[in-house]
Amino acid sequence: MKVLVVGGAGYIGSHCVRQLQAAGHEPVVLDNLVFGHRSAVAEDVPFYDCDLGDPEVVGKILKEEQIELVMHFAAFAYVGESVTEPRKYYENNFVATLRLLETMIDNGVKKFVFSSTCATYGEPESLPIVETLRQSPINPYGQTKLDVENCLKAFAHAYGLSFAAFRYFNAAGAAEDGTIGEDHNPETHLIPLVIDAATGKRENIKIFGTDYDTPDGTCLRDYVHVDDLSRAHIAVFDKLAEPGAGYFYNLGTGTPNSVREIINAVEAVTGLKVPVVEDERRAGDPPALFADSSKAQQELGWEIKYKDVKDIIATAWRWHQSHPKGYED
Ligand code: UFG
Repeated sequence: MKVLVVGGAGYIGSHCVRQLQAAGHEPVVLDNLVFGHRSAVAEDVPFYDCDLGDPEVVGKILKEEQIELVMHFAAFAYVGESVTEPRKYYENNFVATLRLLETMIDNGVKKFVFSSTCATYGEPESLPIVETLRQSPINPYGQTKLDVENCLKAFAHAYGLSFAAFRYFNAAGAAEDGTIGEDHNPETHLIPLVIDAATGKRENIKIFGTDYDTPDGTCLRDYVHVDDLSRAHIAVFDKLAEPGAGYFYNLGTGTPNSVREIINAVEAVTGLKVPVVEDERRAGDPPALFADSSKAQQELGWEIKYKDVKDIIATAWRWHQSHPKGYED
C-alpha cells in the first residue's frame, strides 16, 4: 500500500514509517519539520517538507505519488500550552486536519488513520478505560482531537471515508536498534526526563504530586511502546477496505505504572541513581489513566510485544546512549 505519513518525521510517525517499510508498504512522508527531524526518516523514503493544510501542495502529492491511504500524526501535543494558547491548537490540530481531509476527499483518497489520544476521555468515569466511556476532555488539546474524531464520523457517513482513530496512552521507548527515538524540544515526557536526571543532563526529576489517591501517591499511567503503537496502524488496513467504515481503538498495555515506579525502573535499567524532588501537582493531571485495549487485540490481532515497562525503558536508554544530544537537526 502507498501511504502518505503526515508528521512522519515526528516521534511516533517516524517509527511508523519504519514499520511500514518492514511490512513491505511504501511510505511517503509529509512533514513541515516544525517539531519533526529530517534525519528521523531514511533517505530512500520520499520526503515533502510542507504544511498539511495546503490543499494545492497536498493534492499534488496525493495525485503524483498515487497515495491510497493517509496516516496523520502531525499535531501539537503540549497539554499546558493548549490551555494558554488554544488558538494554536484549534488551528493546527483541527483546522489543518479538516483541510487535509477535504483535500483527500477532493482527490478520491478515502482511507485515513488518525492519532487520537486518551486525553479525549478527560477524567475517566471508570478504569481501565474502554472505548465506550464518555469522552469529556479537560483541555483544548484533548478537545481538538475529539473534534477531529467527530468530524471523521460525519465524513465517513457523508463521503464514504473509511477511518481508524487510535487513542494512544503514553507513547514511550525507541526503535529496538537505537537508530531513531524520542527527541522533543522542549521535552515534557516523564521517561526521557528521568533518563536525563539519571545521566546528570538535568539536576533532578520533579515528581508532580505525591498525595494522589493511588498506591504510592503518584500518578498512574499506561506506557506503551512506540513500535507496538505503530504495528496497530498497519494491522487495521484490511478493515479500511469497506467504504464508510469507522473504528476507534484504545492503545495501551493495560498495566498502570506510577511515577515512582518509572523512576525505580530507570534506575534498574541504567544502573544510575536518579535525584528526585517531590513537587506540587501539575494542573490538569488525572490521577490514573490506563487502557482496556482488548478491542484492538481481538479485532486487529494486535499483539503487545513490550509488556514490561523496563523493556520499554531499555529501548529509550539505548537510544539515549547512541544519541545523547538527540537528533543533530
Ligand atoms: N511527571 C512528573 N514529572 C515530570 C514529568 C511528568 O512527575 O517532570 C508525571 C506527570 O505528572 C504524569 C506522568 O509523569 O503523572 C506522565 O507525564 P507525561 O507528561 O509524560 O505524560 P502525560 O500522561 O501527562 O501526557 C501524555 C502526553 C499528552 C497526552 C497524554 C494523554 O504527553 O500529550 O499523555 O494521551 F495528552
